[in-house]
Amino acid sequence: MNQFNTEAEKQQYYIEQMGVWYQERKKELGRDLSCCIVTMGCQMNEKDSEKLLGVLESIGFVETESEEADITLFNTCTVRENANTKLYGHLGYVKKMKEKNPNMIVGLCGCMMQEDIVVEKIKKSYRFVDLIFGTHNIFKLAELLYHYTKSNSPIIDIWEGTTEIVEDLPSDRKFSFKSGVNIMYGCNNFCSYCIVPYVRGRERSRKPEDILKEIKQLAAEGVKEVMLLGQNVNSYGKNLEKPVSFGELLQMVEQVDGIERIRFMTPHPKDLSDELIEVMANSSKICHHMHLPMQSGSTKLLSAMNRHYTKEDFLNLAYKIKERIPGVSFTTDIIVGFPGETEEDFEETLDVVRKVKFDSAYTYVYSKRTGTPAAMMDCQVDKDTIKDRFDRLLKTIKEGSRDNRKHGVGKTEPVLVEAVNDHEEGMMTGRLSSNILVHFKGEKELVGKIVQVKITEEKGFYYIGEQING
Ligand code: SAH
Ligand code: SF4
Ligand code: F3S
Repeated sequence: MNQFNTEAEKQQYYIEQMGVWYQERKKELGRDLSCCIVTMGCQMNEKDSEKLLGVLESIGFVETESEEADITLFNTCTVRENANTKLYGHLGYVKKMKEKNPNMIVGLCGCMMQEDIVVEKIKKSYRFVDLIFGTHNIFKLAELLYHYTKSNSPIIDIWEGTTEIVEDLPSDRKFSFKSGVNIMYGCNNFCSYCIVPYVRGRERSRKPEDILKEIKQLAAEGVKEVMLLGQNVNSYGKNLEKPVSFGELLQMVEQVDGIERIRFMTPHPKDLSDELIEVMANSSKICHHMHLPMQSGSTKLLSAMNRHYTKEDFLNLAYKIKERIPGVSFTTDIIVGFPGETEEDFEETLDVVRKVKFDSAYTYVYSKRTGTPAAMMDCQVDKDTIKDRFDRLLKTIKEGSRDNRKHGVGKTEPVLVEAVNDHEEGMMTGRLSSNILVHFKGEKELVGKIVQVKITEEKGFYYIGEQING
């Protein structure tokens, strides 16, 4: 790395160089330059976008919501086909913007860019794109921009994979009071339908000391809630020089003063240990919410999906957690229409939904991803059948969550106030430990504070309540 001790130092150098470029451009234009980051996909991408924004703001750029900015970056997702379609929609619009303002810089990054066919298509049909990079080198934004401004020709830099984790880059958080914290990157599970391991690479865990340093800093800045992020958080720490379990990491995070709530996403049912359940049960900070992706209730399909658990394993795990952590709230992910899904298989999924009573669920229509084993499987399910099953699934999930909601009414619980409610004057929106939203009358100064709210009414997926003083 020549004259630099760390990658962060090197990037800091490029940020400063770009800062010089920025000031010259600002002088020429007589105004500040704007930047816009459009984020698609999951919390990993949202977190990455905070880092991209941190770098751009360190250079001097001023954030705007409008895609008609001096630099617009699309942080892409490819988990399902509709994520890809969405990007091409945006690009059609941005092309017109760039015709109006040829100095505009358009960049694409994130998961979709890790697919060769996508990059080929962009190079051929979207020639106005200036910058393409992937998931493994987002830390290089300032350096890539520097080379772009020097050469004024498109820069494409995609890495196949990486073992590197770059720490200490700037970041601009979306919320002042809560923050995602990466604890690991990548995934080794290769569920047969899923493209994530191909675009995010193999599992890499951050060192506990780096994670704790970040969380202490967040606490010092006033953050009350952290969400520990990884594709399979309970395989955290296995490959560290000194292995640390996810349960142990949680206990360390609990010690950080100022952090009042801890969440995590996503655990994999196959790796969910008794240790983790105990740590959660004994903790006053870890939220009693378990997002446990089930995908299907059919043991046959779970096997074809390469999930490594059966319907019974999943049910037993859910019962065990409910018993040890009374009042725990469950949410899940479910795929409808996986190749070969029969009516009987689907009934098994409904059966688990009825038994576990999820508080909510992300439901997805199976999407064929080129390069995954499931894409080669026969018996793709037809569209009408999928639509019918999807509707029945939503109805069943709703019935379960309504049932759960009824038990909440009358209770008084701590709520982290997140925002002013846009729909109703004078109302605020906050989140219970269970992750369920509650709307209540309050002042906007409450945002970021934890207050006691008495739940007065259930509305299906959310509650109405009133603040209790003191
Ligand atoms: N690592 C997490 C999240 C992965 S992506 C996990 O294991 O749960 C989030 C969700 O997208 C998955 O849980 C799955 O339900 C869904 N998903 C992934 N690939 C999909 C595909 N090809 N078609 C439809 N849904 C998919
Ligand atoms: Fe995809 Fe499975 Fe990894 Fe989740 S655990 S990211 S669904 S391969
Ligand atoms: Fe999408 Fe990448 Fe997340 S494919 S779901 S943004 S890891």
